[in-house]
Amino acid sequence: MPIGIFDSGIGGLTVFKEINKSFPLTNLYYLGDTARVPYGNKSPETVIRYSLECGNYLYGFGIDALVIACNTASSYALKTLRKEFDIPVIGVVEPGVELALKITKNKKIGVIGTQGTIKSQSYKKSLLEKADVEVFQKPCPLFVPLVEEGMINNHITKMVVKEYLDEIVKKDIDTLILGCTHYPLLKETIKELYPHLQIVDSSQAITEYLQSHHIPKEEEGIKRIFITDESPAFEKLKKLLIGNIPVEKLQLSEICTL
Ligand code: DGL
Repeated sequence: MPIGIFDSGIGGLTVFKEINKSFPLTNLYYLGDTARVPYGNKSPETVIRYSLECGNYLYGFGIDALVIACNTASSYALKTLRKEFDIPVIGVVEPGVELALKITKNKKIGVIGTQGTIKSQSYKKSLLEKADVEVFQKPCPLFVPLVEEGMINNHITKMVVKEYLDEIVKKDIDTLILGCTHYPLLKETIKELYPHLQIVDSSQAITEYLQSHHIPKEEEGIKRIFITDESPAFEKLKKLLIGNIPVEKLQLSEICTL
């Protein structure tokens, strides 16, 4: 059962890494839309169109499941993609919500993400639909560029983390959902500053979800990674996250079909 995974760019490699670690023999096709990143500050219509194009491209490989690694795309485009494709389409929101509800004790949950993800209220709506909890949200737009610059555990990053998170941590949350592909790379910094928080990382949440739904199967273990534009940040993060799997560059026109 080959799986397609797409993201606006490099952050989704955190999801690819976890899935690959748990299912080394599953064929994985990853598309990072590096030419059009970020999705986090684009309109819902644009994110839906880009997501359909990424999905269509991966569907061409005969995939049996499509994972939307990008939280912004999961927030805006999941329904449309589920209608469009006749295979399971899995976003990161639901697995993250399920995991957070499993681990929270005081039922106060924080959610951080891009402007788009927080504006869509996708996590908040889903948490409140499933349980009687309090939800505190905060967009953290500076986290993505900090991670892309490799500023993962330095003093500026710590100041920015505190600036964004102090406010919601003061609400007595015990669980924090990292609602953005890039944020798992800041997990250690967040843990250091707020050691009492339980952190939900979508890459782990989605891997557990795939395991419990028995989606991946053993195959040849083919791994292919595509990007729509070269990016020094992609190369840096790719080495850090997944080592030397080669990256294939596409022309944007190969995926722009809409
Ligand atoms: N992949 C995006 C997300 O998880 C973050 C980067 C972007 O804004 O495109 O929401």
